Amino acid sequence: MREEGQASWKTWTPGSCRARGLWVSLMSLLLLPQLIKSLVPDDFNLVHPLVTLEQLLWVSGKQIGSVDTFRIPLISATPRGTLLAFAEARKTSSSDKGAKFIAMRRSTDGGATWSATSFIVDDGDVADGLNLGAIVGDVETGTMFLFYSLCAHYDGCSVASTMVVWSKDDGITWSPPRNLSLDIGTEMFAPGPGSGIQKRHEPYKGRLIVCGHGTLERDGVSCLISDDRGASWRYGGSISGIPFGELKKPNDFSPDECQPYELPDGTIVINTRNQNNYHCHCRIILRSYDACETLRLQDVTFDKELIDPAVAAGAVATSSGLVFFSNPAHPEHRVNLTIRWSFSNGTSWWKDTIQLWPGPSGYSSLTVLEGAQTWGDGTPQIYVLYEKGRNDYFESISLAKISVYGTL
Ligand SMILES: *[C@@H]1O[C@H](CO)[C@@H](O)[C@H](O)[C@H]1NC(C)=O
Ligand SMILES: *[C@@H]1O[C@H](CO)[C@@H](O)[C@H](O)[C@H]1NC(C)=O
Ligand SMILES: *[C@@H]1O[C@H](CO)[C@@H](O)[C@H](O)[C@H]1NC(C)=O
Repeated sequence: MREEGQASWKTWTPGSCRARGLWVSLMSLLLLPQLIKSLVPDDFNLVHPLVTLEQLLWVSGKQIGSVDTFRIPLISATPRGTLLAFAEARKTSSSDKGAKFIAMRRSTDGGATWSATSFIVDDGDVADGLNLGAIVGDVETGTMFLFYSLCAHYDGCSVASTMVVWSKDDGITWSPPRNLSLDIGTEMFAPGPGSGIQKRHEPYKGRLIVCGHGTLERDGVSCLISDDRGASWRYGGSISGIPFGELKKPNDFSPDECQPYELPDGTIVINTRNQNNYHCHCRIILRSYDACETLRLQDVTFDKELIDPAVAAGAVATSSGLVFFSNPAHPEHRVNLTIRWSFSNGTSWWKDTIQLWPGPSGYSSLTVLEGAQTWGDGTPQIYVLYEKGRNDYFESISLAKISVYGTL
């Protein structure tokens, strides 16, 4: 299946590429720029990803607001085309537990410049504080929702909570936290880390979906869904780890941190961390054909091309169905942050890759600016926010901008 997908792409590329290139330049003379924008993103022949900018957004080591460590990067484009970057600002150590802020920076010029860091949530000085998280926006209202958990490790606390804050002004100000556990219960739910999605196609067009995972004993992936623009949330489908409710052994089935994206036919793919290397040192792929109403064991596959050391990875689909993926591409170690892309709905990956950083690199998150949101010359841009360091992957959080068509 994978080989076929790539072979057929290769065989029809060269001829039609030239013909299309000619056609596009002819059309650009005749048509309004807006019309060009709507035509161009459909054209896979123009895809030639190129890194055009990279800058550090956060540096660990008590240099920014005396924060010990920045980890868990999330990036999202708002419906209005603003970029929002988030990270856990771990106050006193690099531990997943401990007290934290949620740090945020905004860019309203396509990633060229960024606001100073603001700390939009503060959990105090608790032993087992907040953990990010997932960000999702509603295209109709423009509201952005940011999910996080509290007490995910039950260290010095006994009840886990799922929390959400939202912004109605494109990320400038944020609501006080709402405790969603009052509605969905207190089973530990660790959202993302990464982005949620809003369904662009049927079924359930407009539905907001945020996927996450449970404790290491229970684990498995489940999704929260909202069909009323984020006013109320409930659980959709889930896939459990095996054996359920027990600590896992090496090679047990334990789907963990996850990143959903939607294909042009309305299918949802959830690219998932394979915590215990079940079947391979590679990604678990879940698919849902009913907008995460259900997740079925028969729709679980393993992507052997996506070698992975068990980490949170980035995945995003453009509106034309081009899929991008980011992770430290190594079977054991968090090194070699690599960007891949797929012309076949994520069933195979193009032979070329971009190596963003050969050294220590960890979690990553992707978003796309395209169409009416796009800055500059109107072509699609991918943004990668990832953990990067010289000796340890949590030394900094870096932003890279990738021009999908390779134009500057
Ligand atoms: C959230 O609500 C649950 C369920 O009522 C409760 O047990 C938990 O303590 C609340 N969490 C916070 C942070 O208020
Ligand atoms: C990808 O999925 C779309 C429908 O979503 C389909 O039209 C297209 O043929 C698929 N592409 C490949 C290469 O399988
Ligand atoms: C980095 O990843 C690329 C893509 O999979 C691979 O070709 C290369 O060998 C990797 N390098 C290291 C040092 O693992």
